[in-house]
Amino acid sequence: MSKKRRRRRKKYRIANMKLFLSAVVAGIVVIVLIIAAAVNIAGWLAGDEEKPEEHGVKETVAETTKATQPAEYVPQVKIEPSGEYVSINRLMIVNKHNKLDSGYVPDDLILPDSRTGTNESRQYMTREAADAMNALTSDAADAGSTIKVVSGYRDYDYQEGLFRRYANQEGTAKAETYSARAGYSEHQTGLCADVSSPSVGYKLSYSYDETKEGKWLAENCWKYGFIIRYPEGKTEITGYVYEPWHIRYVGQENAEKIKNSGLTLEEYTGNEAAPDYE
Ligand code: DAL
Ligand code: ZN
Repeated sequence: MSKKRRRRRKKYRIANMKLFLSAVVAGIVVIVLIIAAAVNIAGWLAGDEEKPEEHGVKETVAETTKATQPAEYVPQVKIEPSGEYVSINRLMIVNKHNKLDSGYVPDDLILPDSRTGTNESRQYMTREAADAMNALTSDAADAGSTIKVVSGYRDYDYQEGLFRRYANQEGTAKAETYSARAGYSEHQTGLCADVSSPSVGYKLSYSYDETKEGKWLAENCWKYGFIIRYPEGKTEITGYVYEPWHIRYVGQENAEKIKNSGLTLEEYTGNEAAPDYE
């Protein structure tokens, strides 16, 4: 083989090697991008739900989330535009002293109109509460405040995974100040919802009560039958820190009386304080 030919062959081999290396690098970049996208999508799917933004680590660990989330119950959409509401106990108490059965699923679950749409299977409410929510969010919008449901009905198994996730992240004692153990969450009644607004990026924020929307909510929710269920300074009674985003349907008459009295739902219904699990 001539020198010239050998040189050309060598050049060819080097060019091939470069091509191969470029392909390997490009492949690695694509794989990294796919993993990054998957982590993001999983984090987005996990949503913020009950977790207040000031609490602990952000939910970016996709595997942890997946591993602790049991198969969820997806409520059937009920289309009942007219007729009587299914009877509900508007003053039902669910707290650290009052547990629901694991199989308890409220009747008459429907999706409220104004919702973020993320994790939609967990944004249902019982129809009476959802209708009241629709009136509330519609009037809020008319008054210039966008309010959307972030988290509504959550089944027992989902709550179990949610609480375990927070306990793993921040320790059980801390998690118990803001998240209920499975069976002890009011979210299993379908009568309450966590709501939020664009001004706080649809997060559950302690500063929600400083926003126009949070102020409107605190001032007006009673008109639609809702109360701020975990008011400031009432942890020794309700068992939970202040949650300006968590509203509970109790019916208009009860909500008005509770608002005017400044009582918690426990006090209003004559139930004992439930600061801790028994
Ligand atoms: N954040 C309320 C207490 C719940 O987990 O139901
Ligand atoms: Zn809540």
